[in-house]
Amino acid sequence: MSVIYSAPGKLMLLGEHAVVYGYPCLVTAVDKRLYVEAELISGDRDDIITPQVKESRFVLESIAHFKGKFNITSAVRIKTKGDFSHQVGLGSSSAVTVATFKALSYLFEKNLSLRQIFDMSYHVTIFIQGVGSGFDIASAVYGGTLEYVKPGKVIDPLFITSLPLVVGYSGIKADTPYYIRKVAEDFKSKKPLMEKIFLSITNLVSQAKQNLIEGNMAEVGNCLTANHIFLQELGVSTPLLDKMVESAVASGAWGAKLSGAGGGDCMIALVKPDKRVAVEEAIRKTGGEVINVNVNTKGLIRENKI
Ligand code: PMV
Repeated sequence: MSVIYSAPGKLMLLGEHAVVYGYPCLVTAVDKRLYVEAELISGDRDDIITPQVKESRFVLESIAHFKGKFNITSAVRIKTKGDFSHQVGLGSSSAVTVATFKALSYLFEKNLSLRQIFDMSYHVTIFIQGVGSGFDIASAVYGGTLEYVKPGKVIDPLFITSLPLVVGYSGIKADTPYYIRKVAEDFKSKKPLMEKIFLSITNLVSQAKQNLIEGNMAEVGNCLTANHIFLQELGVSTPLLDKMVESAVASGAWGAKLSGAGGGDCMIALVKPDKRVAVEEAIRKTGGEVINVNVNTKGLIRENKI
């Protein structure tokens, strides 16, 4: 017997870094997914993971955690496939972890709730990476667009009808744990300043949330751009990300910012439909690659084929 589940990648909308310190962020799920097929294998054998994806450590650790919790000794075969590379920073590790737990839960008839899948996936991620708020895991489990406070203290869906984003990839793989630690170093020496920045970001998160729900996209755009400036102050942007953001705004985006830890990965721009082409063109001209994704998409789902 085998079963296939998939989980989405994610994009941080606002509130990165601040979320690590207990402040809220907004995250949206994207339609680039990670697929996990799980199958029971008979006999006294080791687990088989194919192919050896970059995220295999997360798969192996998830299996070990699951089996340990439920005292399972049977072996499983796990096959994974991604719609996207781990290079772009859309959250392949969290998606593969979440989909592995869900598939194992089904296979061994454990009927884990989404909350339990979130908690177990967060545990595994922290065990491997040591740092992280878990926003990406919440997004992979629940999908849609969420307000999130760690460690799952708030996971609130935002009921929105539209989120017209352009996504630009900088071509550089960001080292998320490095940037989290860099901000943590500064937090030790400049605590009052950093807290002031986090509070300002929190204010933007709450304004953006309200305006997203009401559909005031120009206002949401202003919040994005203002958030980018605070990320520059935190020292996590790069000249290329700044150029991509500036060119997007100059060519008519409502607003733009880097998305995620910084140092590379992606930027996002919120655009009016009639400005999309111009903004995409501007991002390409600065050296970025436009990634076509739909946002606000489904969380964990059962699939028929991988
Ligand atoms: O680099 P990404 O897309 O995984 O985003 C990291 C966001 C941080 O707030 C910096 C870390 C976290 O786990 O919340």
